[in-house]
Amino acid sequence: MEIQVNPAAPDRRKPKPADESNLGFGDLFTDHMFLMNYEKGRGWYDPRIVPYGNLEFDPAAMGLHYGQEIFEGLKAYRGRDGRLYLFRATDNFKRMNRSAARICMPDLDIPLAMEALQRLILLDRDWVPGSPGTSLYIRPTMIATDPFLGVRPSHRYIFYIIIGPVGAYYKEGLNPVKIYVEDKYIRAAVGGIGEAKTAGNYAASILAAEEAHAKGYTQVLWLDAVERKYVEEVGTMNIFFVINDEVITAPLNGSILPGITRDSVIRIPGDWGVKVSERPLAIDEVTAAAEDGSLKEAFGAGTAAVISPVGQLTYKGRDYSVAGGRMGDLSQRLYDEIVGIQYVEKEDPYGWRIPVEE
Ligand code: COI
Repeated sequence: MEIQVNPAAPDRRKPKPADESNLGFGDLFTDHMFLMNYEKGRGWYDPRIVPYGNLEFDPAAMGLHYGQEIFEGLKAYRGRDGRLYLFRATDNFKRMNRSAARICMPDLDIPLAMEALQRLILLDRDWVPGSPGTSLYIRPTMIATDPFLGVRPSHRYIFYIIIGPVGAYYKEGLNPVKIYVEDKYIRAAVGGIGEAKTAGNYAASILAAEEAHAKGYTQVLWLDAVERKYVEEVGTMNIFFVINDEVITAPLNGSILPGITRDSVIRIPGDWGVKVSERPLAIDEVTAAAEDGSLKEAFGAGTAAVISPVGQLTYKGRDYSVAGGRMGDLSQRLYDEIVGIQYVEKEDPYGWRIPVEE
């Protein structure tokens, strides 16, 4: 399928941020976006790059009512060699297709999605920031558009990609965050939609996050929905604990998001000879390890957050300091390795970098 390109007129283009050191997250978008439509029996059609702007939906569009919406989060980087690179982008589109299957939405053609993304980035290449810690955030999104209020899969969808320059996701940057271990609300249960990257999982998290923010915490750590016993994820990122010499994260049991950065964090230390376990980890094991000194580090891992060290956990009214409230050695080494690969400062033995080119 031929992608049509309708560039924005020069006088409609927006000013780029003057100061890259002040970039936040998710509030700036470039001059263009990619769009295409889907209709049952016809498939995807009309792939196009157009000026960034509002979308028009029927007020009855099913995605707005019943949550048939999925998205992805990935990044492009300006490498130290001056070229642009995507990081593991095909893995994001594969995950999007798994999310689509769970929410009864159509499959994307991954080569087409990759071509669309590459062309969009190239058209808006001047928006890709180059300062340390900055990148181009990419948000592919699919939403059901049938104007119909019965509950069933929609027959029509829109897929779009928007992009924009970002800095750190958390205002703390690489400074350790304070995490509240949530034992009242739950994010997702096994058998539900927790492993799909879909709006409902984020909607489920907002009230708990608001209550935690009001108490001075950056995020909540979710426990399993049945026993409120096992650690799951943070909602904006997956979570890892280093107890003695073992790096531990929750297994992909259906209720947590299969993070791409999570996968990188599992593979890299394994190659350094550090033991990484995907196993159920009870919050009581974490707090006991914090008390006896065997909890060495804890950190979150996600595309937006990269590696985010945890400096304090609070569970059932008790505070547990982690790594003396500083970034641990393994967290720092992992951050340096992942960021080094992304910015072409290090070798890429995994083949994760994808050059963005014509
Ligand atoms: C990402 O890390 O890209 C995500 O989609 C998480 C979101 C909360 C920003």
